[in-house]
Amino acid sequence: MSTILKVENLHAGYGKFKVLHDLSFEVEEGEVLGIIGPNGAGKTTLMNALCGLLIPSEGEILFEESNITKLQPDKRCRLGIGRTYQIPKPFEGLTVFENVLAAAAYGTGRTESHAIDDTIAVLKQTGLFEKGDIVSSELTLLDRKRLEIARALATKPTLLLLDEVAAGLTDAEVHDVMDLVADLKQAGYTIIWIEHVIKTMVEATDKLLCLAVGTKLVYGDPKTVIESKEVEEVYLGVDEE
Ligand SMILES: Nc1ncnc2c1ncn2[C@@H]1O[C@H](COP(=O)(O)OP(=O)(O)O)[C@@H](O)[C@H]1O
Ligand SMILES: [Mg+2]
Repeated sequence: MSTILKVENLHAGYGKFKVLHDLSFEVEEGEVLGIIGPNGAGKTTLMNALCGLLIPSEGEILFEESNITKLQPDKRCRLGIGRTYQIPKPFEGLTVFENVLAAAAYGTGRTESHAIDDTIAVLKQTGLFEKGDIVSSELTLLDRKRLEIARALATKPTLLLLDEVAAGLTDAEVHDVMDLVADLKQAGYTIIWIEHVIKTMVEATDKLLCLAVGTKLVYGDPKTVIESKEVEEVYLGVDEE
């Protein structure tokens, strides 16, 4: 396996408010790296730094050996980094099909007519094919999460960033999402999966990284990380949702 993403000594925040401190980690091609950590630990901030919404103040991000630290989000998308948002952000007035088509066309620099086959394939892959004509604002939360993943997949990523796609779902729905992520891993995607709900992550990930106050607390085999004293302490008093 080769390294697809390398994060080196990353510092990032919002203006004077520093969130990530000296964060370093690597992701191997084809692996699912889970990132956990309490609310406010900096998980979404990391996602923003990886997709280019936030430019780090120090450190480097190397994707497939290119330095992308300061690259704009649209350029990162075309290089193969796709992301989902913790709060789904579809075009509410468009149908499911139209939302995925927009991502398939504009995320890859093709005309819509050249992106239709891929749109259909992604709708099938994410279980949304039968719901293509539904206006996005009318979807259930599970289907909004599926659509979020579908829109990211439609941009043809090699690295997929998932931000709390299981949050707010019932246990049965979480299993649906886990099955979908397992299928994506099987299909060869490299995945960084951020969740606040940690029990899901032991089964679904190859490696686990726990963030606390913007820096790496523990990293390694998921079961070992979950059972570590550091993780227990950082989650002590925090109820799993
Ligand atoms: N746009 C923003 N402007 C200022 N502070 C922010 C912004 N987004 C997040 N923060 C702050 O950064 C810290 C980390 O937030 P976030 O990365 O969203 O954490 P997590 O996803 O781990 O819950 C929190 O203290 C949060 O209040
Ligand atoms: Mg978050």
